[in-house]
Amino acid sequence: MTFFEAVQKRYSYRGAYQAVPVPRGDLQKIMEAGLAAPSGCNAQTASLIGLDDPALIKTIGGLLGNSGFAAAPAAVCVLTRAVPVYRGMRFNTQDYAAAIENCLLAITALGYASCWVEGQITGDPGIQQKIAQTLGVPEEYIVAAYLPIGIPEKEGKRPSYKPFSERAWFNGFGIH
Ligand SMILES: Cc1cc2nc3c(=O)[nH]c(=O)nc-3n(C[C@H](O)[C@H](O)[C@H](O)COP(=O)(O)O)c2cc1C
Repeated sequence: MTFFEAVQKRYSYRGAYQAVPVPRGDLQKIMEAGLAAPSGCNAQTASLIGLDDPALIKTIGGLLGNSGFAAAPAAVCVLTRAVPVYRGMRFNTQDYAAAIENCLLAITALGYASCWVEGQITGDPGIQQKIAQTLGVPEEYIVAAYLPIGIPEKEGKRPSYKPFSERAWFNGFGIH
């Protein structure tokens, strides 16, 4: 699959996964793609925990209330450190967002599906804390997002996106 095919094929999958393991090598490739993303001042504030232990995945999927996520063969938990890096500014949100998109494109390119699960975690500090406890995450790291990974039982589809001309222009706002 080419880069541009992966970009257009990626979508959020929230259903059940086939009981086909994700080899550790694929999981590492996905994580390496994530860590290759740019970061503000190259501070590399995003960290990743790859998961292929069914018990851990079941626990986290249960916390998220999604039976598909709970039975996914693999996942990546995305961590961030909110440290100031330039004139008191923090870029950690941008850093982990870039890392996540790289992971999602790698997941798609390898023939798997996933979902950027963030609101369900950060919207409930209780869940965020329980995931951190489950994975032994130290206090200076924040659990930012979770990406289940596997081959979908039934392919989903991309939602509709606004047309190019509504959101992008050339040489000035609104110019086509
Ligand atoms: C910052 C962010 C937070 C998200 N949080 C969640 C989430 O908690 N649960 C979920 O099912 N999807 C979540 N999503 C996925 C979006 O709902 C999804 O990307 C959007 O609806 C567009 O669909 P697509 O990914 O299929 O193109 C999140 C996406 C982003 C970028």
